[in-house]
Amino acid sequence: MSRSDAIGLAYLVTIIAFILALRFLSSPTTAPLGNRIGALGMAIAIGATFAQAGLHNYWSILIVMLVSAPIGAYAARAVKMTAMPQMVALFNGVGGGAAALVALSDFHQVAPEPGRIKADVGISIMLSALIGSVSFAGSLVAFGKLQELISGRPIVYPGQKLVNGALLTALLVLAIVVLAGQQRQTLVIALLCGALLFGVLFVLPIGGADMPVVISLLNAFTGLAAAATGFVLHNNVLIVSGMLVGASGTLLTMLMGRAMNRSLANVLFGAFGQVVAGTAGAAAGVDGASVRSATAEDVAVMLAYAKKVVVVPGYGLAVAQAQHDVRTLADLLEQRGVEVTYAIHPVAGRMPGHMNVLLAEANVPYPQLKEMDEANPEFPRTDVALVIGANDVVNPDARSNAGSPIYGMPILNVDESKQVVVLKRSMNPGFAGIDNPLFLNPRTVMLFGDAKDSVEKLIGSVKNV
Ligand code: TAP
Repeated sequence: MSRSDAIGLAYLVTIIAFILALRFLSSPTTAPLGNRIGALGMAIAIGATFAQAGLHNYWSILIVMLVSAPIGAYAARAVKMTAMPQMVALFNGVGGGAAALVALSDFHQVAPEPGRIKADVGISIMLSALIGSVSFAGSLVAFGKLQELISGRPIVYPGQKLVNGALLTALLVLAIVVLAGQQRQTLVIALLCGALLFGVLFVLPIGGADMPVVISLLNAFTGLAAAATGFVLHNNVLIVSGMLVGASGTLLTMLMGRAMNRSLANVLFGAFGQVVAGTAGAAAGVDGASVRSATAEDVAVMLAYAKKVVVVPGYGLAVAQAQHDVRTLADLLEQRGVEVTYAIHPVAGRMPGHMNVLLAEANVPYPQLKEMDEANPEFPRTDVALVIGANDVVNPDARSNAGSPIYGMPILNVDESKQVVVLKRSMNPGFAGIDNPLFLNPRTVMLFGDAKDSVEKLIGSVKNV
């Protein structure tokens, strides 16, 4: 077998490993295996690339790898679960930036040839430069929003869509000019800079909690940029893995949009998450209904004498890091013969699978986690729905108020339970920036305070019941 055949075979094994990794990553129980298979595939791909004939600069590549791999490993180990979306944004952005730099270097190599660049190579270079730069800059802005380095609220100004549209058109025209024969590197650098600016302007008007959707979309972009780079470099493994990233990022984007009943256009251009003046934070409803607040002792009695309790976790649980205490409370209740399950909304929290990951960290048994479709029929026979730091995903307006920004979003029907207890710090709104009539429902009581403090108090009080 020749060296190039062996490398081709190794790349084929890599592609199979990546596909298997994606398959295994689709379930929490098999995900660790999927991760390992993916990492093995990547190691084989790196080894095969090093074995390629004509590679001279081994040392510079090795030095960069030796510096960057420990940084990546440390970041992945040290990152808090709540900060995972911004880390993904950062890693994704770096991938896009790399594709753009490879495009620049490829252009440098092919441009000295007289006449036009071959169409297939030229188009691939332009695509990776454009998409890679947008993905890099957009991901950095997404990181900044999630890390609260810049405002997480949508940053909007008059004529914004027009400016963005004009900039994108100018970039496409510039790419066509280069392809048509103006092989000047200054033009390609101008294209890269313009695309970076577009990436920033494109993400600024999108609200902080929509960042997971944007990151997933930018991830799909990075995949496409990498695939385009694969065409330039005639590298099959880059083409296939780029397309896998592109396809899975697109699917995830669509799934999240569907779970919120929002179109991609609404996520990207709807400036969702601006606080609606005068609506959020009201303590009394229009019909005079008012909020009932309870003490930990009152709630402990409700829980201890219930037959069935459903815990509904949301973003506040992640902020408070109350997952371990919630598990302790559930164990206590189970010891008293109470049936405890967890209802998981697909977009609760701030990233896909956020609640599953948090509860898995506290070793909550998987069979107790119920997806929305399985959980909803259970609420009418639930004694207490314990809503911990969730807001939008239990807002009944999504079902019944056609004027609500979240109308049509499937929710967890906690208001069908006999009693609802909501743990949060104030009457402040959730991500959507809107009031929640659940808090005014006569069956609802509020236990105000940080979720971790409140659950700790509940543990103490249940022990005394
Ligand atoms: P939210 O509606 O954002 O509500 C979270 C609530 O947690 C807030 O009202 C807040 O109230 C409370 N909270 C914050 N810190 C707390 C703490 N330390 N202790 C107790 N409570 C605390 O969360 P949700 O119900 O999980 O809904 C998720 C939202 O994000 C949805 O609108 C969804 O569409 C959006 N979104 C999610 C995703 C993914 S993939 N998950 C993607 C895009 C968008 P206080 O400030 O009063 O405490």
